[in-house]
Amino acid sequence: MLEEQLSALQAEAQRRIDSAQTPEELEKVRIDVLGRKGALAEASKQMAKLAPEQKASAGKLLNSVKQSLESLFETKKAKYDDEMLARRLDAEWLDLTLPAPGVRPGTLHPITRIQREIEDLFTSMGFAVLDGPEVETEYHNFDALNIPADHPARDAQDTFWLTDGHLLRTHTSPVQIRGMKKLGPPLRMIAPGRVFRNEEVDASHEHTFYQLEGMMIDRNVSIANLIYFMKTMLSAVFHRDIKVRLRPGFFPFVEPGFELDIHCLLCGGSGCPVCKQSGWVEQLGCGLVHPNVLRMAGIDPEQWNGFAFGLGLTRLVMMRYAIDDVRWLQSGDLRFARQF
Ligand code: DAH
Repeated sequence: MLEEQLSALQAEAQRRIDSAQTPEELEKVRIDVLGRKGALAEASKQMAKLAPEQKASAGKLLNSVKQSLESLFETKKAKYDDEMLARRLDAEWLDLTLPAPGVRPGTLHPITRIQREIEDLFTSMGFAVLDGPEVETEYHNFDALNIPADHPARDAQDTFWLTDGHLLRTHTSPVQIRGMKKLGPPLRMIAPGRVFRNEEVDASHEHTFYQLEGMMIDRNVSIANLIYFMKTMLSAVFHRDIKVRLRPGFFPFVEPGFELDIHCLLCGGSGCPVCKQSGWVEQLGCGLVHPNVLRMAGIDPEQWNGFAFGLGLTRLVMMRYAIDDVRWLQSGDLRFARQF
C-alpha cells in the first residue's frame, strides 16, 4: 500500500521537477514534497501505523525516494545557479581593451605660473622670496613707506579699512619694510601677493589683484642696476628681448621714482589701440629707495641704498596671454583655466 503510494509520489514529484520553469516554481515543488509538512513527511507519519516487520523495508524505501528526489532537486537547482551566473557575467562583462576615457590633469592658474617663473628667476639671482600679511597695519602700508597722512590713497574710496588701524593691504610695498627689518642690509628680496583696492570692477579693474614687489639694498646700487634686473625679468616673462623706457613717476617711497614702460608687444612699437598709438605700455613702478624709508626700517642711508619696484602681476599675465578681461582670472571658469 505505502509502497505504491511512494512510487506514485516519486513519479509525480519527478514530473513536477522536470516541468518546473523557474527557480521559484522549483522551490515550491521542493517545499510541497520535501518540506516539513510536505508529502514525504506525510508518508513517514503513516509509516508509524505499520506493523513492526513492515516498518524496516518501508523506511528504507522512503529514504531512497527521499534521496533520489533530493538529488534531482540539487541537479536542477545547480542548473539554475549556473544559468544565473552566466547571465550575471554577461551583464557585467567589461571590455578591458577599450581605450580609457580622457584623463584631464589639472593645470596651474596663469598667475601662479608666471609668479613661479619670476620667483625661480630671482631666486637664481640671489633674491629671497618673502611673504607678508594681507591684513596689514596702516603703519606698514602707509606711514613706514613715507606716504603722508593726507595722501589720497588712504581714503576710504581707495582702501578697504578694517578696525584698529588695520586694512587690507593696497600694495605689496609694506613687505619692503618687513623684509628690511627681517633681513637687514645688504639684501635682495621679492614679495609676490594679493592686494586689495576699493574699486568698481570692470574689464580692466578688480578689487583683488596680484602684485610682485622687489627690493635690493647694498652699498652702491644704481639706476643701471635697476634697469638691468627689470629687463632681465621682463625678457624672461615674455621670452624675448624687451625694450624698456623710464619716465619720471612719483611714489613717496622712492626718490627718484619712475614709471617703467615696455615697447608694445602687440604692434612692436609702431602704435596700436592697446598702446594708444604710443608704442609703449606702462608696466611697473620703481625707483631708488627713499632715505626716509630706509631710516624707518632701521637702515642707515649714509651707508646703504637700493632700488625697489612694484609690478602689476595680474596685468603682466594679461599681457603675456593676451587676456582682454581681468574678470576671467578669478572667474573659476574651467573653460578659461583649461587653456593654460
Ligand atoms: N606700490 C606701488 C603701487 O601699488 C608700486 C610701486 C611703485 C612699488 C614704485 C615700488 C616702487 O616698490 O618703487 O602702485
